[in-house]
Amino acid sequence: MTGKAELKLDGKTLTLPTVVGSENEVGIDVTNLRKETGAITLDPGYGNTGSCESAITFIDGEKGILRYRGYDIAELAEKSNFIETAYLLIYGELPDHVQLEEFSSLLTENQMLHEGMRFHFESFPPTAHPMAILSAMINAASSYHPNIIHKREERFPYHAARLMSQVRTIAAFSHRKAQGLPVIYPKSSLKYTANFLHMMFSHPGEDYELKPELIRALDLIFLLHADHEQNCSTSTVRMVASSRANLFASASAGVCALWGPLHGGANQAVLEMLEQIHDEGDDGSKFLAAVKDKTTDRRLMGFGHRVYKNFDPRALIIKEQCDKVLSQLHKSDPLLDIAKKLEQIALKDDYFVSRKLYPNVDFYSGIIMRAIGIPLDMFTVMFAIGRMPGWIANYKEVMEDPNSRISRPRQIYTGSTLRNYTPMEARG
Ligand code: SDX
Repeated sequence: MTGKAELKLDGKTLTLPTVVGSENEVGIDVTNLRKETGAITLDPGYGNTGSCESAITFIDGEKGILRYRGYDIAELAEKSNFIETAYLLIYGELPDHVQLEEFSSLLTENQMLHEGMRFHFESFPPTAHPMAILSAMINAASSYHPNIIHKREERFPYHAARLMSQVRTIAAFSHRKAQGLPVIYPKSSLKYTANFLHMMFSHPGEDYELKPELIRALDLIFLLHADHEQNCSTSTVRMVASSRANLFASASAGVCALWGPLHGGANQAVLEMLEQIHDEGDDGSKFLAAVKDKTTDRRLMGFGHRVYKNFDPRALIIKEQCDKVLSQLHKSDPLLDIAKKLEQIALKDDYFVSRKLYPNVDFYSGIIMRAIGIPLDMFTVMFAIGRMPGWIANYKEVMEDPNSRISRPRQIYTGSTLRNYTPMEARG
């Protein structure tokens, strides 16, 4: 590797340095391109553009590799849990007993919302989508703790724990509000995921039966969603962080980006797609024919990925869990059978094979969430809860980078060139 690239432009040759990552990825450093040539790069959707150097998560899309801080996702899924993995992502190392206990205690100490937040929930109509409530209430939560906005580095562990803990409480409260049910407060005796299920499904006077298999299944869903390098919503969090906005504002922006059906909203769209296929009595082949027909805007939701051109390792893990969770609950789900049939047909169909379209994290995750009893419009909220430690870790990385600058991409202007104002009477 020469450590440099040469660019020829209008007869001039510019030598550009390269950056090589710890997994031997090569980036051409174009920091001085515009100063040296007046030209910029153009890469709609940033498929070929690195926005940063990061030490948090590594993905190899061709090999289907995903590692959090160097640990393979399959090993973490088997041996770790969501809170331990969240600590790993945020602080860079697996915690020892004391560190884990302190982190867990901070989550418990910060689990309650300010009571004034209750009244914000009342301002939403019952039809409000939980992602709209989540993004709004994350910012509302920071308003009750001014030191979050006037941040001091030494307060970061408290801000991070408060955000991770309260995102769960906000989500559960918004579900209860939408159902017209009384809110259920968190219990200090319960750990993170169990507490969330308690707040979602208990009733005043009687606790929800916390089945270990459901707690483990949802905890695994959170772990598998915890980070994924510079995806759309994480890049949004970093973009907002680059202006030195506070952690809660950055996370709230991440929620909005995640909501889109091409991103985190895909898990809800997958279930809606499977339900439509089921209701139409289609075995999937009619739907796939419509997907391949370019005159329709149909997509096989939960399939395809900007980075994975092989299996998404998370999808493989979740697919295995689907069968396990359903059998533990003595349930079957015809939508799982349809999903498996769609995958089976698609992976033999040249339209999908030629475009390297495989199941992604969203293809099977909804089956498990449905089995747990999570309502459909809360699926993307589950994604946001899981992704929170990844957003916090990326926010921290931006804030700690001494070379961090405000993110401000350039453009190629294609509008009107200079023209003079036309008075109304001359406009015809
Ligand atoms: C997530 O980035 C991340 O890391 C995201 C994520 C994370 O953890 O943060 O992994 C989570 O967002 C997963 C993706 C969830 N979204 C979906 O499942 C929605 C369906 N998938 C797509 O819309 C699409 O695959 C994307 C958005 C995921 C990726 O889009 P790209 O990389 O911009 O690819 P593209 O739209 O340019 O598609 C390339 C070709 C096109 O066909 P041609 O123009 O070459 O004929 O593939 C086709 C597309 O039409 N295509 C699909 C398809 N996805 C791509 N055709 C049918 N069904 C699909 N799902």
